[in-house]
Amino acid sequence: MKALILVGGFGTRLRPLTLSVPKPLVDFANKPMILHQIEALKAIGVSEVVLAINYQPEIMLNFLKGFEAKLGIKITCSQETEPLGTAGPLALARDKLLDDSGEPFFVLNSDVISEYPLKEMIQFHKAHGGEASIMVTKVDEPSKYGVVIMEESTGQVEKFVEKPKIFVGNKINAGIYLLNPSVLDRIQLRPTSIEKEVFPKIAAEKQLFAMVLPGFWMDIGQPRDYITGLRLYLDSIRKKSSEKLATGPHIVGNVLVDETAKIGEGCLIGPDVAIGPGCVVESGVRLSRCTVMRGVRIKKHACISSSIIGWHSTVGQWARVENMTILGEDVHVGDEIYSNGGVVLPHKEIKSSILKPEIVM
Ligand code: GDD
Ligand code: MG
Repeated sequence: MKALILVGGFGTRLRPLTLSVPKPLVDFANKPMILHQIEALKAIGVSEVVLAINYQPEIMLNFLKGFEAKLGIKITCSQETEPLGTAGPLALARDKLLDDSGEPFFVLNSDVISEYPLKEMIQFHKAHGGEASIMVTKVDEPSKYGVVIMEESTGQVEKFVEKPKIFVGNKINAGIYLLNPSVLDRIQLRPTSIEKEVFPKIAAEKQLFAMVLPGFWMDIGQPRDYITGLRLYLDSIRKKSSEKLATGPHIVGNVLVDETAKIGEGCLIGPDVAIGPGCVVESGVRLSRCTVMRGVRIKKHACISSSIIGWHSTVGQWARVENMTILGEDVHVGDEIYSNGGVVLPHKEIKSSILKPEIVM
């Protein structure tokens, strides 16, 4: 079986992290987003993943080369010379996706996180016999997504409305599809949207079916959702393989600590924290609802909550970093500094406090 991951887009909503790497390589729970997906695809027997990409393919491929062998999966790139949207890339990768088997293939948005119930999806697809399956999930704010109106008992999609201005329903497209090869005959090689141009047509022909995704789901392409996504992800780890989570008197709730990270005396860490490889957390530090990426140093008695600390940054002693502060790669926050929602571009030194949410260039 094959799969295509939609990797394009500039990831502007996740800046400054995406100033250092393409969005799919931004770490989530100590591992690049895209690896969560590739591992899930491999686990259900996908043998080849095509990355549909429109910028910086070298960075992506160089990074993933090592994982091809490690995971035993073929990873190739299909590069656009102009952004082809969410459907055009399928037409471009047509020859890579088609083979003699006639099997359906998966298509994934690169910024969604879930338990990837892909096996269940294959069963669902076989059972309804239609041309295309999509996963849907319920959300509170459907207007940010593609809304799906479906016949509850069969899952047959009656309507697909991308980013509706008025409320039509709260079940939304989760960005995980299983498509028969015939869907490719419906897509032209030009910039085009699968949500606006392809799904509504397949739905009108009663060939599009939706399965309600079991478990959690989040589009982690924006900082606030990224932080919420980490909470949901760690909750799910707690239920499925709690041995992966940190334990001890200094841990509160769900916390993921890479085995190469060092945690000092008298810290209090959690809930909903991920500490990446090679991090050093000095004594007396307080961390909650935050991600600390590879190679970060947090100095004594610093306090970080609801924030993301980018790769190889440092946070000074007695510093207080909170309220959706996002530090890009290699940012250095001085001792006793306060950051209230600062969004700091890579390679900066912060010498005075950031009192209200703002971008620091
Ligand atoms: N190759 C390629 N080329 N990929 C692209 C392009 C492009 O021109 N434009 C977007 N993508 C990729 C993005 O990288 C992402 O993985 C996926 O297509 C969806 O694009 P987003 O920009 O993240 O869309 P969205 O989040 O506003 O909406 C989409 O996802 C929602 C779920 O998170 C839609 O599919 C909605 O219907 C859906 O509900
Ligand atoms: Mg998205």
